[in-house]
Amino acid sequence: MTKPITLATYLASQSAADAALRAVVANVAQTCAEISRVVAGGALTGSLGAAGHTNVQDEEQKKLDVITNDMLRAALDGCAPVAGLASEELDTIETTGREGGFLVTFDPLDGSSNIDVNVSVGTIFSILPAPAGKVPDEADFLQPGRRQAAAGYALYGPQTMLVLTLTEGVAAFTLDAGGEWLLTHEALSIPADTKEFAINMSNQRHWAEPVRRYIDGCLQGKTGPRGKDFNMRWVAAMVADVHRILMRGGIFLYPWDAREPDRAGKLRLMYEANPMSLIVERAGGKSTTDGVAPILDLQPTKLHQRVPVVLGSANEVDQVGAVDQVGA
Ligand code: F6P
Ligand code: MN
Repeated sequence: MTKPITLATYLASQSAADAALRAVVANVAQTCAEISRVVAGGALTGSLGAAGHTNVQDEEQKKLDVITNDMLRAALDGCAPVAGLASEELDTIETTGREGGFLVTFDPLDGSSNIDVNVSVGTIFSILPAPAGKVPDEADFLQPGRRQAAAGYALYGPQTMLVLTLTEGVAAFTLDAGGEWLLTHEALSIPADTKEFAINMSNQRHWAEPVRRYIDGCLQGKTGPRGKDFNMRWVAAMVADVHRILMRGGIFLYPWDAREPDRAGKLRLMYEANPMSLIVERAGGKSTTDGVAPILDLQPTKLHQRVPVVLGSANEVDQVGAVDQVGA
């Protein structure tokens, strides 16, 4: 058997990416390996359950949201090329006092409602260039997703995996028993066609008409307009639903809905939608707000901005766009 490629070897081979960027990725990856151990400890470490307060999004924080957030903060604070960070679990940005280098935004534990029931969760991160010659402020974080220097996520599932995009392509690593990331998927590619969709069906009555019509077409199966039967999956952790799409195709929707009409969607642009969109596009898929408009082109206006998400297999995302144009 050939010797597996470690993350360190892989990063050393990525000479098109800035060495400082690779150091930041290595730092986040190492922290994710440590988070994986804490998550795996579950009830044994007393880390399950609610923390007893809400975050800036008014969501109940789990103890593990707080623990994992603090682990990433501490790691990035000690990582020389990092000038600032922002997290789902922090009201405002934090700076390290350094200038230049990179900004990191993250969702420390995506899908945290899954933790207490032992279902997959993950960490999502986005790395952006920091301004030179100044300590960054919040405005410096508000860069379109296309400007990301790198993006990735760790999935704490039956296997712990790290999925990364640096300058091109998407590679995936699996954490071995010794705590080392080993390259297991060199170039992930999302099939253009699919028969599998992921959406929270319980929100159906709140959706806009085009999304209703698109899903209705899927539900009609072989005898409907799509002429094929569809399957449905919903893990309720974006990181796991997107991972499935990277592995075998599919479409994921968290659309705008009428529950809170002024809220653009549920998922957050800066540390959920943007990093996942870069990964999906680099793997040949599409990531949009509505089947048409690419998420990566959005100009962010707020750190915790929300955005509707329609991503996955390219031809299927186009189908949502086609419905939208006919009926919006
Ligand atoms: O971070 C928000 C999130 O947990 C996503 O990971 C996931 O896709 C979604 O919320 C699940 O939402 P719902 O509660 O509607 O299933
Ligand atoms: Mn999340």
